[in-house]
Amino acid sequence: MEFNILSLIYLLASVTFIVGLKMLSHPTSARKGNAVAAAGMTLAIVGTIFLYNEDGETLGNYGWIFGGLAIGSVVGTLAARRVKMTAMPEMVSLFNGMGGACAALISIVEFDHLIHQPSLSQTFLFAGIEWPKEGLLLIILLGLIIGTVSFAGSMVAWGKLNGSLRDFSFRGQQAFNIGLLLLILGLATYMVVALPANAQLLFYVIFALSILYGLFFVFPIGGADMPVVISLLNSFTGVAAACGGFLYDNKVMLTGGILVGAAGTLLTILMCKAMNRSLTNVLIGAFGGNTAAVAGGIAQGSYKEISLSDAAVVMSYANKVMIVPGYGLAVAQAQHACHELEKLLAAKGVKVSYAIHPVAGRMPGHMNVLLAEADVSYEKLLEMEQANEAFPTTDVVLILGANDVVNPAAKSDPASPIYGMPILDVELAKHVIVNKRSMKPGYAGIENDLFFRPKTSMLFGDAKKVLQDLITEVKNS
Ligand code: TAP
Repeated sequence: MEFNILSLIYLLASVTFIVGLKMLSHPTSARKGNAVAAAGMTLAIVGTIFLYNEDGETLGNYGWIFGGLAIGSVVGTLAARRVKMTAMPEMVSLFNGMGGACAALISIVEFDHLIHQPSLSQTFLFAGIEWPKEGLLLIILLGLIIGTVSFAGSMVAWGKLNGSLRDFSFRGQQAFNIGLLLLILGLATYMVVALPANAQLLFYVIFALSILYGLFFVFPIGGADMPVVISLLNSFTGVAAACGGFLYDNKVMLTGGILVGAAGTLLTILMCKAMNRSLTNVLIGAFGGNTAAVAGGIAQGSYKEISLSDAAVVMSYANKVMIVPGYGLAVAQAQHACHELEKLLAAKGVKVSYAIHPVAGRMPGHMNVLLAEADVSYEKLLEMEQANEAFPTTDVVLILGANDVVNPAAKSDPASPIYGMPILDVELAKHVIVNKRSMKPGYAGIENDLFFRPKTSMLFGDAKKVLQDLITEVKNS
């Protein structure tokens, strides 16, 4: 009876994961989606703790379980509350690494069971079917390898993003990495097929090599490519957790793992597409790790500047203004000032919208989250395709700390590293005002011809300060 209730709970939790994930795909429903999935997860955890019953045995160990839950909840809540918007990718990386470590620990524990309990070593039960022990060992090893690589790689990504680790590579590193991976897979295959007497030693050798592989896999990747790598590692953690679902014949763990694995893979593909780069290029390209080394860094040519008062007048008397937010807006934490300027212009009868490029900023949905934090209405956010249709009828485009996502080289220069990346066609508008602090390049490390074009005027300064000054000027104009 109890077991049936648990199955029902697992089914319900699996449904909440799917519904929650679906709701996460739109900003208006994302918060609720998160809450729905979290409620499902809580239900699954509580159900497992109190209703799990195999051969008349319940889970027990309540002190350890609730102790761990309490520590995890406090640490997770504090970390999520305190994290700055710009540090979000590194927190995701750290949490993802913990998921990978959990999956690897499950494999270590289950391997121990496998070799010490002969009754368990013959077959294992999944979906009501008895599987041979080789299958069990295969799943254990997969969970160990994938979980460990995800853990070690995520730790390097975390270190790089918080500045404590630098990109590191040596000659022949790609060949070394491939060799290491082949060695791990070869040893794992040998273990499953031959089940040798020294299996325990071999298991820990595979574990150690997987840590090494995780470290060397992420070390050479350019610091700014980390969001893509984190998303990939996230999908690894999902697959490793799904292995745990197989081991325990636990459908909710399996569903959760597969959803994380699939969502992570899709996100990785989408990010690569939006940057017009292949995953291989991200993984071996060392792109964006050292901006000064690419294309000489600083642009050549002459550009014109605009004063704060002129910029305020041009915008105040426009019919339509489009704001293009970028990474610099997030760095300056200028989202509230930006919203204030938007409201001020709207009060003067100007129609203001925001053009959101899919990879503006440094993580998926960065600009949406940033603007949502400042209570900017979702209706004012235009996706790239909609914005590109709106530019020809726009009077003024105000670019705030964006660079690559408005670089025309993506369309015109086949030699450019961003060639083929879809961009916001800001030049179709009548005037373009660009706010940044200098003529330095953005993430891709390349110059931007837009800044030298006749329609463009530069408005130098930190985005927050410039926006605050613009607000004062608009009030007076
Ligand atoms: P970027 O091309 O990186 O340009 C940001 C600009 O902001 C810089 O040129 C910088 O110029 C300026 N800036 C920095 N701090 C500022 C401040 N305090 N005030 C005003 N301006 C400031 O940003 P983007 O246009 O948003 O493009 C994003 C890039 O990141 C793309 O190349 C994309 O492929 C890449 N990327 C994105 C993602 C995701 S998922 N979003 C993931 C990986 C990579 P100054 O130094 O002169 O101020």
